[in-house]
Amino acid sequence: MIEELNTLKQEIKNKVDQTTSTKALNEIRVEYLGKKGPIQSLSSKMGSLSIEEKKEFGRSLNTLKTEVNELLESKKQELEKKELEERLQKETIDITLPSTELTIGGVHPITKIINEVEELFVSMGYDVVEGPEVELDLYNFELLNLPKGHPARDSQDSFYITDEVLLRTQTSPVQARTMEANKEKKPIRVICPGKTYRRDNDDATHSHQFHQIEGLVVDENISLADLKGTLEILAKTMFGEDREIRLRPSFFPFTEPSIEVDVSCFKCGGKGCSLCKGTGWIEILGSGMVHPNVLRDNGYDPEKYTGFAFGMGPERIAMLKYGITDIRSFYTNDLRFLNDFNRVEGGE
Ligand code: DAH
Repeated sequence: MIEELNTLKQEIKNKVDQTTSTKALNEIRVEYLGKKGPIQSLSSKMGSLSIEEKKEFGRSLNTLKTEVNELLESKKQELEKKELEERLQKETIDITLPSTELTIGGVHPITKIINEVEELFVSMGYDVVEGPEVELDLYNFELLNLPKGHPARDSQDSFYITDEVLLRTQTSPVQARTMEANKEKKPIRVICPGKTYRRDNDDATHSHQFHQIEGLVVDENISLADLKGTLEILAKTMFGEDREIRLRPSFFPFTEPSIEVDVSCFKCGGKGCSLCKGTGWIEILGSGMVHPNVLRDNGYDPEKYTGFAFGMGPERIAMLKYGITDIRSFYTNDLRFLNDFNRVEGGE
């Protein structure tokens, strides 16, 4: 019987040597090591042997099984390696096939406007600063020359949290905070973008949450001419090189004089159309020379320093620039709106 084992071993070895595929190799495994295979039938014949013979034959049978398994395993590895190499040789990548389309996000229109304004002012040496959205009445109103009971407070219907704390109604409190934080009372050039809140009922032109961008310059000898020149650059950057600006007297408690700024209509060039309601001008922001009370209350000597400030609404600018008719479309995150907008900007 031992003789039979040796013949079997030789037979298996020959077969394995001649095998050229992993599939055929697997068939050999099943044929010889399977339940109906010769190794199994040899082991069932063991019953007729004496105890001594059984011991010896059993050991040889186990050795055979181990050797066959090792033989199969090493051949398998060899064949797998060969098959992989062959596949790599054969398969090529067709680079002319169309690729899977990637969807890429775009910058939100409001962020775009804020980025544009920031970039312009940073290029002119301004710092970008931010303030809290949950604000003290002190900064939102009092330090801006709006004491408690001032009638102008009524124009900014506010979300109060306590008597002294509210959601800021404007970015102007960042003016007060910046002046206060400047301990050495050095000149200031800042731009302050951020979210603001008012108790308005939402409709096509009102939103209880919106954005503002505040500007503040404080230095010696700052005049209205500096404000005008700055606003002109702003208008041309945002609406085109050919634009002109027009200043109209207005009222804000924190500026004196206060000015409302119009830009010549970028749709009709100033002739009069539906966008500018036939006037040729479109209002874009509020501004003025910083009120002496505001300078004084925030630690700057109004005899030595003057300043200008302005506040604009990026929603309004974006609506004008891109012909958006409903302010709510900025906040509902409708992808059709956002994608349209990205296309306007030259994105894909
Ligand atoms: N804070 C004002 C508002 O919300 C806008 C404004 C007007 C800001 C004039 C200014 C300014 O800095 O000088 O209506």
